[in-house]
Amino acid sequence: MSRTPMILALAAQLMAGLIVFGGAALLMSTVNFTIPQAVLLAGLLAGQGVLAAILGTRLGLAPWWAAINLVLPGALSVVWLWHVPAWVFLAAFILLLLVFWNAAFGGVPLYLSNNKTKAAINGLLPEKPGLRFVDLGCGMGGPVLYLAARRPDGIFTGIETAPGMFVLSWLRWRFGGLKNAEILYTNIRGHDLGPYDVVYCFLSPVPMPWLFEKARSEMKAGSLFISNSFEVPDNPPDEIIAVDDRRATKLFLWRF
Ligand SMILES: C[S@@+](CC[C@H](N)C(=O)[O-])C[C@H]1O[C@@H](n2cnc3c(N)ncnc32)[C@H](O)[C@@H]1O
Repeated sequence: MSRTPMILALAAQLMAGLIVFGGAALLMSTVNFTIPQAVLLAGLLAGQGVLAAILGTRLGLAPWWAAINLVLPGALSVVWLWHVPAWVFLAAFILLLLVFWNAAFGGVPLYLSNNKTKAAINGLLPEKPGLRFVDLGCGMGGPVLYLAARRPDGIFTGIETAPGMFVLSWLRWRFGGLKNAEILYTNIRGHDLGPYDVVYCFLSPVPMPWLFEKARSEMKAGSLFISNSFEVPDNPPDEIIAVDDRRATKLFLWRF
């Protein structure tokens, strides 16, 4: 992650803290009113969070930073006032690492395909009994399970290496009762794409160049490679599907 957003977020917090706490000190020195200390502190911290979220957005931070800026002052004071033990941070860190494993080590964050996108992919599947589909980095298994439920004539595979996401998607598959799906703990790099009719991925710009080369050299004639949102430098897609969803998803299609 770039350091600039963190510096901007810190700047927003400092400005907000100065304005809110400075303003409150000034007000209390001139006006005489009594508020219980805990209520006053909670109010000021909430005020700092709201102002920091607004200032951070004005400074150009992405929308999701507003949520971080909003809760940060309150969260830090809870940690400080309640003497939260160190193991809680270690446990939270390990949990986050298990889920966001590939964000930390592979430059691929976790976000999930929505239902409109899954429906669009369903419409792209060929009418072929025994059809093979794979989701490279299947996250919570959403696309695999959605498609397997709608196409009992096909075989749907999800592969994943983030331990937390693998366990989640495996459990969803295991207790979902879909016999034509499988979830494998496998890295994309070592997984042969030769058997598949349709390969789907929703990753990030980082792996796209090597993944496309791998797909081109391994996928069979007549197969379809679909990338959600991420193009391949110097390799324009054969077709672009615009999904009618809120994030204006684009599916990039290459036919081999
Ligand atoms: C953006 S999420 C997409 C999840 C799912 N495909 C969906 O559309 O809902 C990308 C997933 O790919 C996984 N991933 C990233 N690099 C991987 C790799 N080299 N091997 C296996 N999984 C990977 C991540 O752990 C993450 O769960």
